[in-house]
Amino acid sequence: MGLSVLSVIYLIGSVTFILGLKMLSKPDTARKGNLVAAAGMALAIVGTIFLYKSDGKHLHNYGWIAAGLLIGSVIGVMAAKKVKMTAMPEMVSMFNGMGGACAALISVVEFDHLVHSRFDLREVFSGMAEQAVLQLHKLLQSGTDMSVDLSPDLRGHLLIILLGLIIGAVSFAGSVVAWGKLNGRIRDFAFKGQHIVNLVVMAIVVIGAAVLVLTVNQRMEDTMKAGSADGLLSFQLLFYLILICALIYGVLFVLPIGGADMPVVISLLNSFTGVAAACGGFLYDNPVMLTGGILVGSAGTILTILMCRAMNRSLKNVLIGSFGGGAAAAAAGGKEQGSYKEISLSDAAVVMAYAGKVMIVPGYGLAVAQAQHACHELEKLLEDKGVEVKYAIHPVAGRMPGHMNVLLAEADVPYEKLLEMEDANAEMPTTDAVLVLGANDVVNPAAKSDPASPIYGMPILEVENAKLVIVNKRSMKPGYAGIENELFFQPKTSMLFGDAKQVLQQLVAEIKQV
Ligand code: TAP
Repeated sequence: MGLSVLSVIYLIGSVTFILGLKMLSKPDTARKGNLVAAAGMALAIVGTIFLYKSDGKHLHNYGWIAAGLLIGSVIGVMAAKKVKMTAMPEMVSMFNGMGGACAALISVVEFDHLVHSRFDLREVFSGMAEQAVLQLHKLLQSGTDMSVDLSPDLRGHLLIILLGLIIGAVSFAGSVVAWGKLNGRIRDFAFKGQHIVNLVVMAIVVIGAAVLVLTVNQRMEDTMKAGSADGLLSFQLLFYLILICALIYGVLFVLPIGGADMPVVISLLNSFTGVAAACGGFLYDNPVMLTGGILVGSAGTILTILMCRAMNRSLKNVLIGSFGGGAAAAAAGGKEQGSYKEISLSDAAVVMAYAGKVMIVPGYGLAVAQAQHACHELEKLLEDKGVEVKYAIHPVAGRMPGHMNVLLAEADVPYEKLLEMEDANAEMPTTDAVLVLGANDVVNPAAKSDPASPIYGMPILEVENAKLVIVNKRSMKPGYAGIENELFFQPKTSMLFGDAKQVLQQLVAEIKQV
């Protein structure tokens, strides 16, 4: 009875994950999707705690479980409530790291179980099978030729444990480094020959794991014959050496990657954590954990690919290239070309108030300035004056997937006003004025015209096709890619310098006077 109810609960949990993920793909259903998946997860956790049975016994240690749930929930809720939108990738990274750590710890515990329940005869002797094992032991010591099929699936079991351990540990260590880089606590660091060191560390991990898996049955037999678990020390030491090397690899793998490339790396590490969690699902024969892990793993992989595509960069280029790195950015940022013209607040207000259609292009700067509410106010004011206002959303504007959608949703901007890149570009020629708010790379025409540019080939918002472009940013400094933007020097472009929030508030005040 218990098992069948639990199976239904797991089925419901798995379905909610799939539905939730589907709903997350559209801004207007995303919040609900998150809640649906969270409800499924809560159901699966409660079901496991109270209905799951192993060897006919329910879980125990309820005090520990309750304490863990309580502490985790309090930290999670507080962190999610306090986090600023621009620090979201940081938090996602830390949470992801915790997932990786959990998967690795599951493997440590399961390895311990495997070693003790299968190898340590002293423990087996104290169990119910004492007599049977004693006889078996005697038989083995007397040299009788008999094949002992103690566990045909032992190799497979150990392989899954090791996969969860290695992938989880890499994901944990890498995510913590990514978190530190995003909040400025850890700097980019690379040394000569780092790729070789990485390869050596990875080779130790792979060879060590292969040795463990290939020798596990022999070790078991030897230990049974010897009647003691002493011979297992080297076996256990090798396991922990693999864990340490996987942690070192996670650190070394993320350390040299440019801080601004972290969202792609975090998405990749996220997929690692999913795979590691799926290993846990295999170990515990738990379908909901398996489904959840597979969904996270595949969603993370797809997201990584989509982000790379939207930036027109290969994953290899992100992982070992220097695009977005501090040095490249500083070097390219130094060379300003041509001359640009500025527009006053009052002139910008007149242009927009008398336009037929205004397209707003939000970017990273809008998030930094937390100007989403002021932006929505401007949009409402213009619409009251009969101006059609829309938002052009580039897939990698900002610093994380869906950054602009979430930011504008926070200010209650209607979803139907947000145009995807292709639709926005189709409307550019009929747009009277484009207002670029803290965006830079995503409107850089060099992506189409300059094969030498690091962003060449990246799809962009073609704002230069509109009749007039007003660009708000604080200075002529470059954006994430660290390169000059020729848009700023074109005749139809005017710069409106200042912090996005202040400029928008002043624009609103000016337009009210028009
Ligand atoms: P960026 O190219 O980074 O440009 C943002 C601009 O905002 C900067 O030039 C900055 O100029 C300005 N700014 C900063 N603070 C401001 C403030 N308070 N008020 C007004 N302006 C401010 O941003 P983007 O156009 O959104 O492009 C995103 C970039 O990030 C792309 O290169 C993309 O490939 C990369 N990226 C995105 C993602 C995802 S998933 N979104 C992931 C990885 C990488 P000033 O300093 O002069 O003000």
